[in-house]
Amino acid sequence: VEINLEEQFQARIDADVRIEPKDWMPDAYRKTLIRQISQHAHSELVGMLPEGNWITRAPSLKRKSILLSKVQDEAGHGLYLYSAAETLGASRDQMLADLHSGKAKYSSIFNYPTLSWADMGTVGWLVDGAAILNQVPLCRTSYGPYARAMVRVCKEESFHQRQGFEIMQTLCEGAPEQKAMAQEALNRWWWPTLMMFGPKDADSPNTAQSMNWRIKRFTNDELRQKFVDMMVPQAEFLGLTVPDPNLKWNDTKNGYDFGDVDWEEFWNVVKGNGMCNKDRLGARVKAHEEGAWVREAALAHAAKRAQRAEQ
Ligand code: 3HC
Repeated sequence: VEINLEEQFQARIDADVRIEPKDWMPDAYRKTLIRQISQHAHSELVGMLPEGNWITRAPSLKRKSILLSKVQDEAGHGLYLYSAAETLGASRDQMLADLHSGKAKYSSIFNYPTLSWADMGTVGWLVDGAAILNQVPLCRTSYGPYARAMVRVCKEESFHQRQGFEIMQTLCEGAPEQKAMAQEALNRWWWPTLMMFGPKDADSPNTAQSMNWRIKRFTNDELRQKFVDMMVPQAEFLGLTVPDPNLKWNDTKNGYDFGDVDWEEFWNVVKGNGMCNKDRLGARVKAHEEGAWVREAALAHAAKRAQRAEQ
């Protein structure tokens, strides 16, 4: 019977029928989704920190209010994603406990420091650009609640990306010192952004099965290639130089050839030894602990209301 169910399940996937929370699904499909969606949710939460760092130092009131709403959007994305994972039976408390204990992964990119205002431009332009490329196909991922959460996330992400590009454009059209700041930020963020797409396909244990289940619609290398092809002309438009001596247009493949990512650095960051891993987790745990009274008050309030309703 189990085999039959699996065959039927795969047939639905192959016919592009969305899987919904109450449908039968293989345990491994459920596990993979909980893994990916919770890591994604954690990335949104931790992703607030590098930019949160600049809210008090934004160069104008306008920039401050834009940055503030962008960081708030990331919190919202985290909440949609935790809710999507909950539809699979995951407990939010457990997911957060796993993040705080260092057991759960989140995107490597958020373990790099944001050193100058130009980093706000680069993070919006490059990091959110990479996020969109990865997430637009997820609007067609096979699990319904995840796919639907991605629609709004992508709309907001594309606003984020444009605001990042606009910061870069302003810097690049400004004084030579401002342009140098933009170039310096690009130099630091380019390679870590390429790492966001995950290990090379040959070293990616999850890609083949996730493609088969249509959780992923493109492989890590396919998305990385699309990203380079999209970003190089934008960098040229800004008058910036992509820090890769091996970058070269390839007519035959109709895309750029580019240098190899430093995978040792990538795994080092994923394992928790990047520049900011300890700071980021420390800040999350502190926020969670300091927010305990809010959760307690909300629970007490809900209990009181329930009691009143009974009377
Ligand atoms: N950082 C940390 N860990 C990473 C990683 C990265 N950049 N890329 C891959 N990994 C991990 C995987 O999670 C996996 O670990 P696990 O088996 O213990 O879970 C391992 O490395 C091997 O990688 P695979 O390629 O086999 O894993 P996946 O098939 O899951 O692919 C992925 C990785 C492409 C990141 C995929 O999970 C994905 O598309 N996730 C959804 C998007 C996402 O999480 N984005 C987060 C960053 S963008 C963002 O948060 C928005 C921003 O605006 C705040």
